[in-house]
Amino acid sequence: MVTEGDFSQLLSFPTQAGLNQTLTAQATTANIMGTTIPVLGYQPNSLLGPTFRVNNSDSVNILLQNNLSEHTNIHWHGLKIPALMDGHPDQLANAGGTFRYQFTINQRAGLSWYHPHPHEMTGKQVFQGLAGLFIINDAEESALNLPSGQFELPLVIQDKRITNNGITYNPAMEEVMAGFMGESIVVNGVYSPYTEVATRYYRLRILNGSNARVYNLAFSNNADMAIIGNDGGLLKNPVTAKEILIAPGERLDVLINFAGNTIGTEIFLVSKEFASGGDAQGKQSFRIMKFKIATSITDTFTVPANLSAMTTIAASSTVKTRTFDISNAMEHHGYPMNDGMQMRHRINGKLFDSSRIDENISANTNEIWVFDNSKGDEPHPMHLHGVFFQVLGRSGGRGNLIASENGWKDTVLVMPGETVRVIVPFENNTGKFVFHCHNLEHEDDGMMLQYQLS
Ligand code: C2O
Ligand code: CU
Ligand code: CU
Repeated sequence: MVTEGDFSQLLSFPTQAGLNQTLTAQATTANIMGTTIPVLGYQPNSLLGPTFRVNNSDSVNILLQNNLSEHTNIHWHGLKIPALMDGHPDQLANAGGTFRYQFTINQRAGLSWYHPHPHEMTGKQVFQGLAGLFIINDAEESALNLPSGQFELPLVIQDKRITNNGITYNPAMEEVMAGFMGESIVVNGVYSPYTEVATRYYRLRILNGSNARVYNLAFSNNADMAIIGNDGGLLKNPVTAKEILIAPGERLDVLINFAGNTIGTEIFLVSKEFASGGDAQGKQSFRIMKFKIATSITDTFTVPANLSAMTTIAASSTVKTRTFDISNAMEHHGYPMNDGMQMRHRINGKLFDSSRIDENISANTNEIWVFDNSKGDEPHPMHLHGVFFQVLGRSGGRGNLIASENGWKDTVLVMPGETVRVIVPFENNTGKFVFHCHNLEHEDDGMMLQYQLS
């Protein structure tokens, strides 16, 4: 259960990274809830590494210095970069070692992020503090003159379990099954924060950086949110919503108008209850952070009716359909209970094995991938490395796509009972990539396979 704080800590933002940047993964401390506790962090920051803000076609050169006592690496979630730079679980920096990431940005504007990806240790390392944002800008987006500077707020929402020993990661068996969920919600590493805002439009760039928790975001004053973007950048047109689900790994780009509120008004970003989340999710509503109306200004911004040129990939262009059973229900797979196949999270009955290629894919072809959770009882946010996809449809469960599922996605939430179909253009970024459930306990448990693009 989430425990709310008193929303008295000022929200802060990670420092900005450079195009040449050293990120030192290390044990460090952070002040959360009034006490200084051990956490993991990427120096020069502690909880949450610095935010990259780059333009399309920039090149970056990042040295990961691993000062942890165990191996780690960095996956650039949402970046279309070569396989050997992608933070595949085989590509590691040993304790005390380094890994150099060099790549050139070749994709449209959007909010991506970075986090460790060593198999069986991703959940722990992310939960204890290793993650950061990676923002790409381009000319199409700048031309829209969206709220920027102090009016553009990157918000990383995470849940933490905080004890005197630090951010504690000790999933019990049920927490491996449901995913590890903390009681304390932090935004940008700040527990129960507030920020002061003016009576105008803000652009909130939201990442769900939690291991397992799904949020149903809304505002306490029932304000309309204009959803303008998601994992892969801007949508074609804005879509208005009063509440919107965001699963681990997903991003949302939201315009919210604070105009018309009197000075002193307090408005909360909240997570509302939701149905369809299985036994462990959506049972509680809680507040995440507070916006305090502090300045009255006149704002002439209006939400653009057209955001981005977007081509819809035709289902008729696909050469193959692959179906992935993510239900994980032993009774439905017919797994006998006592044959040594313990209750584990699998895809098509398989656990992750980095020496096995699960899917061979031809470069420059489009495919339909189907994630079948129709017999499952847990939410699975399914994520593909190396590509973006478009969501074609959902059957069972919620039955429909939600406002943020237009445009380009790299992670899609498949609730219990649902089957979700996506269309994936595999271009020519050849190599071996993983795809997995972004519930990090499920991923670490083995709910990850590999595709080889050649
Ligand atoms: Cu953000 Cu393979 O993950
Ligand atoms: Cu990823
Ligand atoms: Cu899962």
